[in-house]
Amino acid sequence: SVNLRVKDLLSRMTVEEKVGQLNQVNGGVLTGPTVANDPGAAGKMNLLRQGKVGSFLNVVGTEQTLAVQKEAINNTRLGIPLLFAFDVIHGYKTVFPIPLAEACSWDLAGAQNTAAIAAKEASSAGLHWTFAPMMDVSREPRWGRVMEGSGEDPYLQARFAEARVTGFQGDLSDNEHVMACVKHFAAYGAVEAGKEYNTVDLSRYALWNYYMPSYKAAVKAGAATVMNSFNILDGVPASGNGYLVNDVLKKKWGFDGFVVSDWASFGEMIAHGYSANETEAAKQAIMAGSDMDMESQVFNKTLVNTVNEGDVPLARLDEAVERILRMKFKLGLFDDPYKYHDAEREKRTLLAPEHIKVARDAASSSMVLLKNEILPLKKELKNILVLGHLSESQDDVLDFWKGQGDHKNTVTILEGIKAKYPNAKVSFVKTCTRDGEFIKGSEKEIKSLAKKADVIIATIGLYGDLAGEARALGNLNPPAGQMEMLAAAKATKTPMVVLVQAGRPLILTDVVKEYGTILYTWIGGSQHGNGVADILAGDVNPSAKTVMSFPASLGQVPVYYNHYNSGRPHSDGQEGPDHFWVSRYRDIPNEPLFPFGYGLSYSTFVYSDLKLSKTEINKNETVTVEVKVTNTSKIDGIEIVQLYIRDLVAQPIRPVKELKDFKRIMIKAGETAVVNFELPAVKLGFYDENGDDLLQKGAFKVFVGTNSKEVLSADLELK
Ligand code: IFM
Repeated sequence: SVNLRVKDLLSRMTVEEKVGQLNQVNGGVLTGPTVANDPGAAGKMNLLRQGKVGSFLNVVGTEQTLAVQKEAINNTRLGIPLLFAFDVIHGYKTVFPIPLAEACSWDLAGAQNTAAIAAKEASSAGLHWTFAPMMDVSREPRWGRVMEGSGEDPYLQARFAEARVTGFQGDLSDNEHVMACVKHFAAYGAVEAGKEYNTVDLSRYALWNYYMPSYKAAVKAGAATVMNSFNILDGVPASGNGYLVNDVLKKKWGFDGFVVSDWASFGEMIAHGYSANETEAAKQAIMAGSDMDMESQVFNKTLVNTVNEGDVPLARLDEAVERILRMKFKLGLFDDPYKYHDAEREKRTLLAPEHIKVARDAASSSMVLLKNEILPLKKELKNILVLGHLSESQDDVLDFWKGQGDHKNTVTILEGIKAKYPNAKVSFVKTCTRDGEFIKGSEKEIKSLAKKADVIIATIGLYGDLAGEARALGNLNPPAGQMEMLAAAKATKTPMVVLVQAGRPLILTDVVKEYGTILYTWIGGSQHGNGVADILAGDVNPSAKTVMSFPASLGQVPVYYNHYNSGRPHSDGQEGPDHFWVSRYRDIPNEPLFPFGYGLSYSTFVYSDLKLSKTEINKNETVTVEVKVTNTSKIDGIEIVQLYIRDLVAQPIRPVKELKDFKRIMIKAGETAVVNFELPAVKLGFYDENGDDLLQKGAFKVFVGTNSKEVLSADLELK
């Protein structure tokens, strides 16, 4: 069995070789800072030949991975195969929409499929392991990494965690899947003020109820690896946090894969002020339960001595090595170390036509229609004016985490529109620079071209590379020059569509005030432009609903739907003496501009007749929640029907709403769907501050609706 083979190999390894298995080094592009005393490319190959490297990150492509694997097999004493890892976040060569956008589709099967395709492409290029899915619940649009997650809700994030882990991994026995990595453990989404690498200071109760469910779901779905986060928790860096890694992940959840640090995060425990030196950092990391050192080299430099001196028990070193070797065996690398390196397979797999087709569908299913007066556009348009740098920039439909995505293989909005309307004259004015500065003189051009145009399509937002790691922003307004562009277009009185392209919700209060039709396209990947054109022309009826609340103003951030009520709650619009000493701002609303779960369709849906099969249940029972949803329009459409609850009295208190289920259903024009949800009593439960289940009797509200704000409600009692 695998365990016997691991034990046998372990018995033949020196302490140096064991520590080597825990060392992961970068062999390609930098996805983090160069560390002090970096051995460089040649130095790393030397380390490899001495048996001091267990894994490479950022070495990609069959040719390169094969060459490096050969070194490991032929030129090390034991010939232990390497693991090749890469950030395949939303595609390898075929790039799908950013994960945040994909989550707005609420399409779990779709997300599983894109993860499976990403795995197929990545594994064909010699990779065994992706650093995804990122499962950090976050309410912080200032944080550049919200693009990688699935938004602000723990329940939805957990469902996407399961779907993506399953898609990436399959059962790991063939060579078409890769190991998933649940990250960043834990609570990285709660970084203060959305500033990258910043502090997290969180109650255990909030940790368990908002942040842990998604990691737990991913681990239960069988994720092979987990990554430490950069942040502290309870004053202890996650990489050296025994509560997180040993107590929760390995003991409470029974995780049997291995834990890798984030880039240099073991060594960074010194800068945190937690570790006195590299020896201490390495010891604290391994004793907390972390297993593999990405790039900081502190294991490589210090662990052999520490173990030989008895400061770290050999048994703990062995356990870490066993976890890593087990995965190498599971992947079949000891039987055939080259099973992932097949140049022919790589050639026929990357950008396969069926992958491109999925990317196109995924792009249009993820774009959120925020406001609509004129869509869909008629098929027989004669003259279209397209505005804005972002409409024609191939680079900007890809973000920092684009994998091996290449701008040459992307479709821009301009190209998408030209292909969709082959008989129309399509003109383009760049109008703004990449940074959003207005290009002088553009007004004149816009004015003259708009005269003949049936419609103007203008794109605002952020350039693609502003989405990803180390891309925190303190300003979430669209650049001023883009607002000038919109104003110049509006002045022409030609009907207009505003497209917004960004990897996070921007503040659109001024845009919403002035413009009638707004499609939030996020960053759609390789097929971005075709996805946009499919929606504009009505070939796809938009159905996505945002999984992050859109702030009305920066002063509200973080703003999210599942907040607590406070002792002095306030609803916008309530004024007068009774509404003074309440939880509100004096100058801005409490409510976001668009709430969680919001998004329009070309169809209109009316909800009615919410019914519960019983009004009281005990702890072992299930209630059926039924609602009618009528498509009152003349066009078939997909509606995402959302079920929320509120636990009215609880100790500790519960949020004003919590998503507990949803259904994504197609409803034909004019038809009524009867939608049923099975709500077992256990879904009314939550966690205490130790992560143990609580289920408390009492009164609940059950809500069903089209978003987190517009809902029907019914009463339920848990006996
Ligand atoms: O996987 C990433 C992680 O999410 C952030 N820091 C760098 C890692 C490797 O590229």
